Amino acid sequence: MKILLTGATGFVGSNILEFLVENHEVDEIYLILRSTSEQNASSRFQDMVAASNTIARHYNKVKLFNGDLSVRNFGLKENEYKFLTQQTNIVIHAAASTQFDLELTEAMKINFDGTKHILDFSEACKEFKHLFYISTAYIVGNYPQVFKESDYNVNQKFENSYEETKYLAEGEVRRGISSLHSTIIRPSILIGDSQTGKVQGFKVLYPFIKLIAQKALSIIPCQSEACLNLVPIDYFNLIFSILFKYQLSKNKPSHLNISTSTFHVINNQNAMIKDLIEYGCPILNIEAPLLVDPEKLPPQRRRVIKRMFNHYFPYLNRPHLFDNSNTLKVAQHQCPIIGKDIIKNMLNYCCEVGYLNKHR
Ligand SMILES: NC(=O)c1ccc[n+]([C@@H]2O[C@H](COP(=O)([O-])OP(=O)(O)OC[C@H]3O[C@@H](n4cnc5c(N)ncnc54)[C@H](OP(=O)(O)O)[C@@H]3O)[C@@H](O)[C@H]2O)c1
Repeated sequence: MKILLTGATGFVGSNILEFLVENHEVDEIYLILRSTSEQNASSRFQDMVAASNTIARHYNKVKLFNGDLSVRNFGLKENEYKFLTQQTNIVIHAAASTQFDLELTEAMKINFDGTKHILDFSEACKEFKHLFYISTAYIVGNYPQVFKESDYNVNQKFENSYEETKYLAEGEVRRGISSLHSTIIRPSILIGDSQTGKVQGFKVLYPFIKLIAQKALSIIPCQSEACLNLVPIDYFNLIFSILFKYQLSKNKPSHLNISTSTFHVINNQNAMIKDLIEYGCPILNIEAPLLVDPEKLPPQRRRVIKRMFNHYFPYLNRPHLFDNSNTLKVAQHQCPIIGKDIIKNMLNYCCEVGYLNKHR
C-alpha cells in the first residue's frame, strides 16, 4: 500500500503516522507538509523523527512533499503531483484548521478547499482504492437530539467557522462517495493518552484547562449537569486501526449490517464538568471554580460572561448526544470512562512538559 497522509504534524495525523509506519502492509507514506516562517518542511520532519522512536525506526518508509493543501495541486511541482497520483492508492486526510475563531473565509480555505483538493487528487490517482476522511462529531451543531452516524443535514446551526466549514467539507466527501470509496471518521473531543496523558499540541480543550489552572476563572458558566464528550487519543488510535483494516478488507462480514461508511469515535458516557473540576483541581492545588447556571446570572453579567467564555460557551451549555452503533459493531470496544485516573494522567503530563504549573 502507498498512502498519502495529510496533517502529520498535528495531533491526530502524528498518531496516524505512527500507526502507518509500523503497519507491514504499508510500503510507502507520502506526507504533505508546509514550511513555516521559521522552519522548512524537511526540518519540521526531522523534528518529528527526533520526537518519535517509532517514526525514527521506519524513517525510510516516509517521503516528504513540501505543499499547502489550500492551494490547487497542493502547490506542488507538476512532476511531484504526477508522481503522487501514479503511486498513491490510499489517501488519509487529517489536516484541518481546528481554530474556532478563524474568519469564515480563512477556515474555508483549509477545511473546505483543502478537502476539495484532496478529492480532486483522489480522483486523479491511477490506482485509487480508498479515502479516509477525518471529520468531527461537532458537525452536529446545535441539533438537540441523538446524532446518528447516518445523520448529516439535520437543520443544525453552527456556533463557529470550524463547525460550519467541517460540515461543508464533509458534504463534499459524501458527494464524492458515489465515485470514490471513502470512510468518514467523526471523533468528538480528543484528549491525551489515557495511560500516559501524552498529547501532541495543546489545542481545543487544553487552553480552557490552562485558564482554570492559572486561576483565571472563578466561575464557569454552565449548569451543574453540564458535560463534555471526551475521547483519549489511544482509544481513537485503536478504532482507527480497526476501521482501517475493516474498510480495506475485501470480504466484509455481511451479518454486521453496516448501513453507512461514517463512524463516530465518541465516548458513550459524557464526562460531567463538575467531576472533571473535582478530580482536577486538587491535582493542580487550586480552588475549584464555581459552576454557575448562566440563566441565573443578571442579564448584563451573563452578556459579559458569555463574551469572556466566547467559543467555549456553547460547548459548556449544549449536551451533545452521539450514537456510535456502526463503530461498536465493527470495533467492539467502548471508549474508557473519563475518571479520576485519566484526568490525573492528563494533568500530570501537562505539568511534566511545562504546559501547566501546579500551585504550591
Ligand atoms: N483534536 C480534536 O479534538 C479533534 C476532534 C474531532 C475531530 N478532529 C479532526 O481531526 C483532524 C486533525 O485535527 P488535529 O487535532 O490533529 O489538528 P491539529 O493538531 O491542529 O493539526 C492540524 C494539521 O493540519 C495541517 N494543516 C492545516 N492547514 C494546512 C494546510 N493549508 N496545508 C497543509 N497542512 C495543513 C497542520 O499543519 P501545520 O503544522 O503546518 O499547521 C497540522 O498538521 C481535523 O480534521 C479535525 O477536524 C480533531
